[in-house]
Amino acid sequence: MFVSKIELQNFRNYGSLIEEPCSGVNIFYGNNGQGKTNILESVFFCAIGRSFRYSKDADLVKNGEDNFRIALSVADDITNDISITYKSGGSQSPAEKSARVNGLYLRRLGHLMGNLLSVIFSPEDLEIVNDGPSVRRKLLDIVISQIYPSHYFDLQQYNKILAQKNMILRDFNVNDQGSSDLLDVYNEQLAAAGGRISARRYLFSRELEIYAAEKNKEISSGELLTFQYYSNFFTVPEPEKTESTQANVMKIFENYEEYSSKIQAEFLEILQSRKNREIERARSVYGPQNDDLIIMLNGMDLRRFGSQGQKRTAVLSIKLAEMFLLYRHTGRKPVLLLDDVFSELDELRCSLLIRSIAGFQTFITTANLSELPESIRRESKIFFVKSGTVKLI
Ligand SMILES: Nc1ncnc2c1ncn2[C@@H]1O[C@H](COP(=O)(O)OP(=O)(O)OP(=O)(O)O)[C@@H](O)[C@H]1O
Ligand SMILES: [Mg+2]
Repeated sequence: MFVSKIELQNFRNYGSLIEEPCSGVNIFYGNNGQGKTNILESVFFCAIGRSFRYSKDADLVKNGEDNFRIALSVADDITNDISITYKSGGSQSPAEKSARVNGLYLRRLGHLMGNLLSVIFSPEDLEIVNDGPSVRRKLLDIVISQIYPSHYFDLQQYNKILAQKNMILRDFNVNDQGSSDLLDVYNEQLAAAGGRISARRYLFSRELEIYAAEKNKEISSGELLTFQYYSNFFTVPEPEKTESTQANVMKIFENYEEYSSKIQAEFLEILQSRKNREIERARSVYGPQNDDLIIMLNGMDLRRFGSQGQKRTAVLSIKLAEMFLLYRHTGRKPVLLLDDVFSELDELRCSLLIRSIAGFQTFITTANLSELPESIRRESKIFFVKSGTVKLI
């Protein structure tokens, strides 16, 4: 798939923009702070319905305006028009965000998922190794939701019920049978949605491990990248002894139903048997909100013991794995957004990345055209970005 047209209105530092990228490599270059990343952000926004930076929707509205609109044409087997409109709230009215696909209003934003597949690579990806568990859960959730939109809806439902349950736990009154019964109902709902969430995350992490380990081995000449899934409510299976290969990676999800019902049952059992502990602590203790993916290199925790270079290699391998899995699962090639990544890479990693993106539509931002290999520049559409304007050169 590829984005054949981008239209922005009042998005970040763009008043109005219409560009037609090519189906291969598109390079956006210009000085710092001119609006290069903003373009990638607008494309990714149409894939997942929010910013990949930690920005609030309101911050994306151009200063002095009260709404923005992003519209993309996405060429696949057929062309789909995706548009998102955001209108700031006032003192009386809440903010409004709405999405349309081919003109049809989406009742829920989650229905956007899967219309445009995209992966973003950025220097901040090092957070995947260095930061807390929520970054890794987010990585898994974004890619899984693009493949299985029901994951997105499960997360929404889970988080809503979890918030309600936490409210009950906060002011729990032991003499109130109604609250106790309500907790039981919430626990059943949480076990169902939460079991599905963790089953998908766990199975996907195993697929990711196979691909990422292979890439990592290639770049590092032999270092072993592995993942250890962490959960505080289900028994994570022992890694299999037989070596997994890319050939059998797609079989992993065939076990989804089996894992999902096993994890749901285990979760419900824990929530019921530890109900009193959660009441004592006045908050939820168990569940996928605590899941983590521990990244290991040669059997040691990469976050604690890895060098900068080893971490960069692992992160690049994980992102490449993410992109291949999106493709393998859906049969559609995701659009790749490479935000300022070439300056961070040495020659070996650079050439691996270039080999890997062949055949995928790619958007590259850079402040320095000369850091991109000549082979890429020759075949690209090149845009010059200057304070919210874009010129094809
Ligand atoms: N809501 C907004 N309204 C107007 N301008 C904005 C808004 N949000 C960000 N900007 C402007 O957008 C610019 C940053 O855009 P962007 O992050 O795309 O830069 P960049 O070209 O990628 O720069 P760098 O090379 O430093 O990464 C800044 O000048 C910032 O002031
Ligand atoms: Mg930038």
